[in-house]
Amino acid sequence: MKALILFSSRDGQTREIASYIANALKEKQASDVMNLLHAETIDWCQYDRVLIGASIRYGNFHPVVTKFVKQHLRELQQRSSGFFSVNLTARKPEKRTPQTNAYTRKFLLHSLWQPDCCAVFAGALRYPQYRWFDRVMIQLIMRMTGGETDTTKEVEYTDWEQVRRFAKEFAQLPGKSP
Ligand SMILES: Cc1cc2nc3c(=O)[nH]c(=O)nc-3n(C[C@H](O)[C@H](O)[C@H](O)COP(=O)(O)O)c2cc1C
Repeated sequence: MKALILFSSRDGQTREIASYIANALKEKQASDVMNLLHAETIDWCQYDRVLIGASIRYGNFHPVVTKFVKQHLRELQQRSSGFFSVNLTARKPEKRTPQTNAYTRKFLLHSLWQPDCCAVFAGALRYPQYRWFDRVMIQLIMRMTGGETDTTKEVEYTDWEQVRRFAKEFAQLPGKSP
C-alpha cells in the first residue's frame, strides 16, 4: 500500500513541502504526490494513508480543499491521515501550531474530517514573483505585522527540520483496519 499526498498550492511552496515529505517517507513507504486541482479520479484501494497540504491566500484555503474533504470524507476517515497548512503568519513560531494558527484552528473546527496528525508550516515570501496588486497588499500586511517589506527580496521561512519531523510522525501513524 502507498501513501497519498495531496496539495493545494498557488506559488509552489506547498508543492515543494509535499514533495519533500514524499521523499522523506521513501524508505518506509512509497507515495504518490497529487495536485488537489487535478485529483478528480483517485484509485483509493492503492492507499492506506493520506496527507493533505494547503496554503493560505488572503485568509483562505483554496475552495477545492473543503470541497475535496466533503466529497471524500469516508475515504479520509477510513485511512490514517494528516493535514498541514502553509502560510506567512506561521513565520512567527508562536503562530505555528494547529491551535495557535487561526486559519488552521478554524479549518479543524469546521471540518468533519479530523486528521490524526496536523502541522502548520511557515511558507515563502517571494515579492518579485507577485503581481503588482499582490505585492502591494503583502507589503502592507508585512508592514503591519513587522515582517520583510523590501520588495526586491525572496525569503523562505519554512523550517525543513520541522517538516522532516512531521513526515516521521505521519509515517509512524498506526494503520487503520479496513
Ligand atoms: C496574494 C497572497 C496572499 C496571501 N495571503 C496570506 C494570508 O492571508 N495570510 C498568511 O498568513 N499568508 C498569506 N500569504 C502567504 C502564503 O500563504 C505563503 O506565501 C505560502 O508560502 C504560499 O504557499 P504556496 O506557494 O503553496 O501557494 C499570501 C501570499 C500571497 C502571494
